[in-house]
Amino acid sequence: MRIEAPDPSAFPPGYRAAVFGASGGIGAALLAQLRRQGGVAQAIGLARTAAPGLDMTGVDVADEATISAAAARLAEDARPLRLVIVASGFLHDAQGGPEKSLRDLDPARLARAFAVNAIGPALVLKHLAPLLPREGRSVFVALSARVGSIGDNGLGGWHGYRASKAALNQLLRTAAVELKRTRPAAIVASLHPGTVATSLSAPFAKAGLDVMTPDVSAARLLSVTERLEPDDSGGFFDYRGAAIPW
Ligand SMILES: NC(=O)c1ccc[n+]([C@@H]2O[C@H](COP(=O)([O-])OP(=O)(O)OC[C@H]3O[C@@H](n4cnc5c(N)ncnc54)[C@H](OP(=O)(O)O)[C@@H]3O)[C@@H](O)[C@H]2O)c1
Repeated sequence: MRIEAPDPSAFPPGYRAAVFGASGGIGAALLAQLRRQGGVAQAIGLARTAAPGLDMTGVDVADEATISAAAARLAEDARPLRLVIVASGFLHDAQGGPEKSLRDLDPARLARAFAVNAIGPALVLKHLAPLLPREGRSVFVALSARVGSIGDNGLGGWHGYRASKAALNQLLRTAAVELKRTRPAAIVASLHPGTVATSLSAPFAKAGLDVMTPDVSAARLLSVTERLEPDDSGGFFDYRGAAIPW
């Protein structure tokens, strides 16, 4: 990873960027910042739920048909797609929060965590990898979470979220190895956005936590995407660009 300041020429100018999960706190901030950045010809916002400023809605990462339809629409434009960010994710919903104990394990809930957090981003890569240019730098990142680190897990709890993010990291690592054969300058990575004030983290807010705004996290994440090098492909990094143990 390069350590110098973000380089606006990290991608050749005139490229397109796509943000999946652009209705979320971090996804919306990423999309807004990409739209203000020079060099980006078009920043495309995709989400499951309609929200102002999005280009495609109804894109549910747990429904492969909606991902392949989105990929087909993205393929209609000949300008190269060089940056893809998957910012969707699932931690809690109306049925409740993440598991606190083994007693709370529920197969349907675990399957949902895997469908949204692990399988979904992998399917986005499956359908978008063919759209990444064969020549020149491109970056595909999905937002993972430090709690998905197996080596760093000293606290326990949040079984499905942790396990699904660990599975996401392995799926991206495996795809990165494969993609290197056809697109040697393409980079695939898992990124931890930090603790960020969004609806996902809101129920777990507590004093003493170092919490970022979505804007600050998005700026740091974009800086990381600009500094990633081909040797970083398959890696797991935080918002500062530091590697996280598997
Ligand atoms: N906030 C943090 O502190 C934190 C820390 C570590 C990692 N992360 C990760 O960062 C990512 C973004 O989270 P956030 O904090 O921005 O949360 P957020 O504001 O709750 O946004 C989550 C996004 O995921 C989307 N989503 C959920 N299920 C989906 C599905 N089946 N198909 C398509 N989109 C779906 C939501 O779309 P709808 O609007 O349609 O529901 C929403 O856009 C997640 O992967 C999360 O795990 C966040």
